[in-house]
Amino acid sequence: MSNTSCESAAAPGYYQHHIFFCLNERSNGEACCARHNAQAAFDRCKAQVRAAGLAGPGKVRVNKAGCLDRCSAGPVAVVYPEGVWYSYVDADDIDEIVESHLRNGQVVERLVTPAELGR
Ligand code: FES
Repeated sequence: MSNTSCESAAAPGYYQHHIFFCLNERSNGEACCARHNAQAAFDRCKAQVRAAGLAGPGKVRVNKAGCLDRCSAGPVAVVYPEGVWYSYVDADDIDEIVESHLRNGQVVERLVTPAELGR
């Protein structure tokens, strides 16, 4: 068995920012991000990051995720390594997250998910 330390895996730098979009869809009527245009937001973010030249190692990665267990705040996305959660509404919100947070490192306070909102 390998004795690889966690240090290399935890080392900063492969991506400066990594954003995950919940795209989970539920068919039982419970709240889910897919019902709030999460796929369109994900596509928009990916396109805007690419267009801004921000995509790639050392820069930004945009990924799909399943349920992030904060469904009542949905649609949600989370940016690491900061662990900043966003509840967005439309394409303008996505553009602001890309420009402010992913490009300039400034959290978009007005879109931050309220701490008390969970599943
Ligand atoms: S369905 Fe999106 S956080 Fe649960």
